[in-house]
This record gives sequence, structure tokens and C-alpha cells, in this order.
Amino acid sequence: MDIVLLGKPGAGKGTQAPRISAALGVPTIATGDVLRAALRAGTPLGLEAKAYMDRGDLVPDAVILGIMKETLATPPFMRGSLLDGVVRTTPQAEGLDSVLRELGRKVDAVLMFDIDDEELVRRLSGRTVCTTCQTPYTGVASGTRCTKPGCEGTVSRRKDDEPEAIRNRLAVYQRQTAPVLDWYRRNGTKVVTIDAVGAVDEVTDRARRALGL
Ligand code: AP5
Repeated sequence: MDIVLLGKPGAGKGTQAPRISAALGVPTIATGDVLRAALRAGTPLGLEAKAYMDRGDLVPDAVILGIMKETLATPPFMRGSLLDGVVRTTPQAEGLDSVLRELGRKVDAVLMFDIDDEELVRRLSGRTVCTTCQTPYTGVASGTRCTKPGCEGTVSRRKDDEPEAIRNRLAVYQRQTAPVLDWYRRNGTKVVTIDAVGAVDEVTDRARRALGL
């Protein structure tokens, strides 16, 4: 199965992705994580993406399409994928469609995590993230050791979780990402809206039920 996760910044996509991925038995690709790893490694991809990400703007479609093409045809992804934040514009949805078509696959469903702006500003203001494995935390101070088994990283605040960048990310979502949902509906793809507010386990159960897992 190839499943797309969509939702505003802070809706909980990164929190839910490993859980849904384990239930589906397919790996996750998260473009935000790929870009941050490239930034830490100082690669040309990371350097190109940095200014866009710090402001909360989207990196160019061509960059994301390159990541999709490179990743989805590799052996770990041959049986399917959970695409976390990979599709944020209509050209990216079209590009993913053609990459998957060449592999004899298609997007089987889109899960849209629904949340109001007040709650997500609250979440992002309290978020820290492991700089090594990207696990998100709430109420854990910067500099604290990551508690994920086997990870030796420390957590810190993301630059794009500052108030101005959050405001911009929300505006970008409305302008460029919200129309993607209509694109999928028009193309006959199953789009399921999940209430993203509630305990993390409850949200996972809603997502699993939506996928018949
Ligand atoms: P990315 O890293 O994907 O950021 P995002 O989409 O803004 O999403 P977030 O990571 O902020 O939030 P999330 O939904 O994963 O929430 P989380 O689980 O962390 O992308 C970053 C940037 O990269 C983009 O701005 C862009 O520049 C670039 N980029 C990436 N992909 C791109 C693309 N396709 N095209 C162009 N550019 C791209 O949860 C948030 C907080 O809430 C955490 O603290 C968590 O612990 C907490 N939380 C989670 N669930 C719950 C719950 N149920 N109850 C209470 N708290 C909860």
C-alpha cells in the first residue's frame, strides 16, 4: 500500500507515522526529515533547502520530486510506503502519481489529520525534536537526551517553530497544500479526514480503522 499523510504543521503526522507504518508493514518517507538530515550533513541538497525551511516556505517541487524518484524505487520501498508530508503542492501530487504509475502502483488512500490552528500553535510552541532520529517531544527541554531505544541524540527546538515561521507555515498550507486534497478527490483517490485531537493512541486507532487495519 502507498498511503499519503497530509495535515497542517504540528497536526501529529511525525508522531503517528511510525505507528501507522508498523501497522501497515511498510517504511515511512518523510521529506522534512530527509531535508533536515541533508542540512546536518551539509550536502548541496541541505544547503539549497535551508533558507526555505527556516522561513517556513516550501522547498521547490523539483527538489521533492527528485527525493521521491530516488527513494520509492529502492528495495525497502518496493512493497509500499507511508508518505509523511511528501505531497504539499498539486505538481507534487501529479509527480508522485507518475512515479508510482511507473512502478505499477498508485496512492491507495490519503489520511488528512484535522486540527484547529489554536491547538497546533500550542503544540509547536512546546515541541522539541531529537536532532538525530527526529522523534518529536512535548514538554522536554532542549539539551535533554533522546529516550528512543538505541538513539544517543539530544533534543532541541526547530528554527521553524518560532512564531513568525509558524504563521508563515500555516499560510503556506492554506495556499499551496489544502488544494491537494481536492486534487485527490477529483482523481478518485480515497481521502479520509482523521480527528487529530485526543490522546496519541486514540488518533492512531482512528487512522488504523480508516485503513481497515
Ligand atoms: P516537516 O518537518 O514535515 O514539517 P511540518 O509539515 O510543518 O510538520 P511538523 O513536523 O511541524 O508537524 P507534524 O504534523 O509532524 O507534528 P508532530 O508529530 O511533530 O517539514 C519541514 C519543512 O521542510 C517544510 O516547512 C518545508 O520547508 C520542507 N518540506 C518538507 N516536505 C516538503 C514538501 N513535500 N514540499 C516542499 N517543502 C517540504 O507533532 C507536533 C507536536 O505535537 C509534537 O510536540 C508532538 O509531541 C505533539 N503531539 C503529537 N500528537 C499529539 C496529540 N495527539 N496530542 C497532543 N500532542 C501531540
